[in-house]
Amino acid sequence: MTSRDEEKRQAAQRAIGYVEPGSVIGVGTGSTVAHFIDALGAIADHIHAAVSSSEQSTARLKQHGIRVIDLNAAGELAVYVDGADECDPRRRLIKGGGAALTREKIIAAASRTFVCMIDSSKRVDMLGKFPLPLEVIPMARDYVARQIAKRGGRPVWRENVVTDNGNWILDVHDWKIADPLALETELNQITGVVCVGLFAHRPADIVLIGDSVMT
Ligand code: 5RP
Repeated sequence: MTSRDEEKRQAAQRAIGYVEPGSVIGVGTGSTVAHFIDALGAIADHIHAAVSSSEQSTARLKQHGIRVIDLNAAGELAVYVDGADECDPRRRLIKGGGAALTREKIIAAASRTFVCMIDSSKRVDMLGKFPLPLEVIPMARDYVARQIAKRGGRPVWRENVVTDNGNWILDVHDWKIADPLALETELNQITGVVCVGLFAHRPADIVLIGDSVMT
């Protein structure tokens, strides 16, 4: 295991401490979340169920005998646990490297506390080194790409990837994101954009880096 993997595993183990007994837990997507689900398996009897952000996480949760329920049947969740691709000092994130950003953002919005687990390489002063994922309606791909180019970004279609919602992903390179709140608001206005992988309006509440909490 690399040191980054070890930090992800440590963060996932620490995130278990935020899981409330008897609750429905929101679960994100990715390699860090895979560690979290494996750790959750050990306490599967202590939680009621999970709400999952992807088919990938659903399959892993079920392998561990954890019941997966629809968000519409769960009401407000106490805790959502997920990874991220970048995190700034105000706990604002870039997410979507695993193409699950839309469902992740919905579950984060529906949760009281968002616990984010990262390795230390993902901590940045300014978001934007990691290409910003946008989920787009397939027929709008070229239109959205032109709107992004006008704003100075370099959109690259993530070919051969279809999201769980049947949409496509554009990864926007070469953007230094000085004002994440304003950019998230602006990109949300582009017709054909389903979801922006910027989590600035709904940042993480707690960020775990390896076995420590970000301060
Ligand atoms: C998936 C995500 C992931 O949380 C993000 O890509 C981090 O992944 P990993 O834990 O594998 O490094 O946003 O859409």
